[in-house]
Amino acid sequence: MAILAANWKLHKTTEDAVSWARAVKASPLARRCEVIVLPGFLQIPAVARELHGSQIALGAQDVFWEESGAYTGMVAPTQLRDAGCAYALVAHSERRRLAGDDDRGANARIRAALACGLTPIYCVGEDEKERSTGRFREALVGQYDVGFEGLSAQEARRVIVAYEPIWAIGSGQPANPAQAAEIAGAIRDGVFARTGLESGLRILYGGSVAPENVAGYLGDTAMDGVLVGTASLDPSEFLAMLEAVVDDG
Ligand code: PGA
Repeated sequence: MAILAANWKLHKTTEDAVSWARAVKASPLARRCEVIVLPGFLQIPAVARELHGSQIALGAQDVFWEESGAYTGMVAPTQLRDAGCAYALVAHSERRRLAGDDDRGANARIRAALACGLTPIYCVGEDEKERSTGRFREALVGQYDVGFEGLSAQEARRVIVAYEPIWAIGSGQPANPAQAAEIAGAIRDGVFARTGLESGLRILYGGSVAPENVAGYLGDTAMDGVLVGTASLDPSEFLAMLEAVVDDG
């Protein structure tokens, strides 16, 4: 089943968040995909209550690598589990830019998430300059090589990678499916070299995914799903994406 992850970023009041969850869980389409919703931290408990008993999974937009201590403002893996999360984004490019998240911190977050039974969704992607100068493959190698450092093949299999080229996020200019598939292949090879994981690594594409282009990333391509920002906010647009994916097979 295709994975559709909804990254709400800094959007939605609790009321809006709950009404989105109510609308999406009511659709039979939501049972034919693996839907993961990633609300703001403060909306997680209310969305968890609304989604209780449904097949829609819940995740957070970040996770810290320590379980407790003098870490003001951080949220621990077990706190997220307690709140009903099964997933956590790690090192989204907006957090890399605004909050100083880096590959080393991502590695610590990934290990801590796995240790407590959360599935990390590790975000990697090149910027516009790295793409236009042809240096994007090297830029990405650094990200997944450090991110997967010290992980066994079994642990690596539990990580989801989200390939999100920075130039495609929120720009209305998505990478085309062939570009995304090429990078997915390189990521699989790199993670195999680092961890020995031969198959089964799940990879999402993210960056300006919308109802009219979502099907192109699934089906025959190397991707297992998509991570969607803007087009995930409106429940009817999100449901249109589910419909496009389910129709696609
Ligand atoms: P977008 O965001 O769908 O608005 O491009 C994707 C993301 O940042 O996860």
